[in-house]
Amino acid sequence: MSYSEFFKALGISAADRFAVKRFADASGVPVERLWHYNGSNAVPSGCDLDKVCSASGVSPIELMLKMGVLDRRIIKALKSKAEDVFALIQDDVERPRGRTEPQPAVFQTKLGRLYQGDCLAVMQSMGSDTVDLIFADPPFNLKKLYPSGVDDDLKEARYLEWCENWAAECARLLKPGGSLFFWNLPKWNTHISAYLNGRLTFRHWIGVDIKYSLPIPGRLYPSHYSLLYYCKGQKPNTFHPDRLPMEVCPACRADLRDYGGYKDKMNPLGVNMTDVWMDIAPVRHSKYKKRKGSNELSVKLLDRIIQMASEEGDVVFDPFGGSGTTYMVAEIKKRRWIGIELGPVDDIERRFREIDSEADYIEKIRRNYNSLFTEETLGIRRQLGLWTCESVRKTNRGAH
Ligand SMILES: C[S@@+](CC[C@H](N)C(=O)[O-])C[C@H]1O[C@@H](n2cnc3c(N)ncnc32)[C@H](O)[C@@H]1O
Repeated sequence: MSYSEFFKALGISAADRFAVKRFADASGVPVERLWHYNGSNAVPSGCDLDKVCSASGVSPIELMLKMGVLDRRIIKALKSKAEDVFALIQDDVERPRGRTEPQPAVFQTKLGRLYQGDCLAVMQSMGSDTVDLIFADPPFNLKKLYPSGVDDDLKEARYLEWCENWAAECARLLKPGGSLFFWNLPKWNTHISAYLNGRLTFRHWIGVDIKYSLPIPGRLYPSHYSLLYYCKGQKPNTFHPDRLPMEVCPACRADLRDYGGYKDKMNPLGVNMTDVWMDIAPVRHSKYKKRKGSNELSVKLLDRIIQMASEEGDVVFDPFGGSGTTYMVAEIKKRRWIGIELGPVDDIERRFREIDSEADYIEKIRRNYNSLFTEETLGIRRQLGLWTCESVRKTNRGAH
């Protein structure tokens, strides 16, 4: 159970199982459905809503207000009485925005500064409109054990409130035209996206195809992470996505689709990047992990984001350091960077000592972008007599 607003709204204590049972008997709604409404903070609908409201004497709108599930009708009514509502709630919601003194960085490079501490406290010491690109990969509230000992098992409502707090700070820190990317499970990003929609401009929900859990009975196999992409203001200052190689059979490098007469229409510089990324492998093998037990992200992912949404010299900020993937990629790509990690930072420092091998890796990845076939694929296709941009052009020239 993660929420308790439903029972609270009905005046029932969730700790009192008998009270829940009595309400089930009085309303005619089965106990397990009542627990479901409470656990997922879902307002009942249809017959259950009628039954719950008549047994409790709470009206549907009052129930929605008490559960914090507001539809556009309620929002419209609240807006029309905004001054009265504000007067009523002002003392509960208006907190002066705490500013904290800047603290010394625990690690510094030519281009970046790493702070150790709680991201909210550090962000509160940073100036508004100062960052060009933000990437955030927070804990997912999955009961994971992090070296920082952070509580990764918050109630859903508390987790989302925490996310809203740092997301609000991210929006404040972003320069007009700056870009923001939030990495999370689809379940959480549906909520975070709803929060961001009223503040920044939605660009994309990018599905990154990585299987992140084992198959769950009764559910679809979770196969993508959500990468939210927003910008501040009407459009991003920087947007240059790489073009990707055409997908071919990994074994024989033959076409996976029939391009028929369209081969000569294929751009030799590669295909347009879509909002579904299929080519980002998870960092699973311990040999490649820079930090034991961490859910470290792939260098390829950060390279793609930083390349797409920032220029050399821009400031990249990531409030959740982990093993420091963002910082290292930013440094290699000549961006300035600001980082924060609550837990130990020695893994990040160690990673910077081995930065050359990671730079080589990025160079290798980048060699495969912005051409229709990778060098390796092109060689194999030539050997096998499969079409290439050159061969198609030659054939076309011959035909004219
Ligand atoms: C999912 S990991 C980030 C992994 C990182 N993207 C990488 O590639 O290595 C989240 C990190 O956020 C840190 N963290 C959790 N709560 C934090 C907070 N309030 N302030 C700063 N860091 C926090 C955790 O200790 C953990 O290392």
